[in-house]
Amino acid sequence: MLRKPFATSCEENKLPILEVLKKEFRDKSNVLEIGSGTGQHAVFFAEQLNHLTWQPSDRAENLAGISAWVTDSTASNISTPLTLDVALDQWPKKSFDGVFSANTAHIMGWQEVEKMFQGVAQILKKHGCFCLYGPFNYDGKFTSESNARFELWLKAQNPVSGIRDMNTLEKLANGLSLQLTEDYEMPANNRILVWRKQA
Ligand SMILES: C[S@@+](CC[C@H](N)C(=O)[O-])C[C@H]1O[C@@H](n2cnc3c(N)ncnc32)[C@H](O)[C@@H]1O
Repeated sequence: MLRKPFATSCEENKLPILEVLKKEFRDKSNVLEIGSGTGQHAVFFAEQLNHLTWQPSDRAENLAGISAWVTDSTASNISTPLTLDVALDQWPKKSFDGVFSANTAHIMGWQEVEKMFQGVAQILKKHGCFCLYGPFNYDGKFTSESNARFELWLKAQNPVSGIRDMNTLEKLANGLSLQLTEDYEMPANNRILVWRKQA
């Protein structure tokens, strides 16, 4: 049997993220998570937000680990994890009123980020919201020394990765009828950006 994958960062950031999701998803009923990673966030948020159904997803190689967390969870509001690589047009054939993704936009190449926003705009219901957690730049500048160092590390792993700039994301989102409604400051120089589907 697969040992459940574990990331310390998920344990460190899950409570501050939960506080934002409690507010942003208070009137939502079904949430798609993109890039669920280990699966820790998926089970924790499903257990804590039991008024909604949580749909974890990720690229195929992470599905077994996420499933191991889901199987061990007592939550009845978490769905079987889906394979979703945003670059491969594998979007679920149903709509959601919420989407959550953590630490994905700086891992994906820019074309994948574009595909993620395009797919989110398609599957979100009107007035649905997309909460995107991670580090972001403003006016081409890092918000901290540690984010500047993180960028160097990211590029060494994969040259197409990189911290995304708010201005570029806003241009992309606005062209897809996604409007930025909140920008939360989070611990460790991270943010949660909230985009709302307009039409
Ligand atoms: C740094 S991990 C973050 C995992 C988790 N959300 C967290 O916060 O711990 C980046 C995640 O993005 C996912 N990812 C990268 N490219 C992707 C793509 N094209 N489509 C979907 N997920 C992708 C990876 O598989 C991985 O799970």
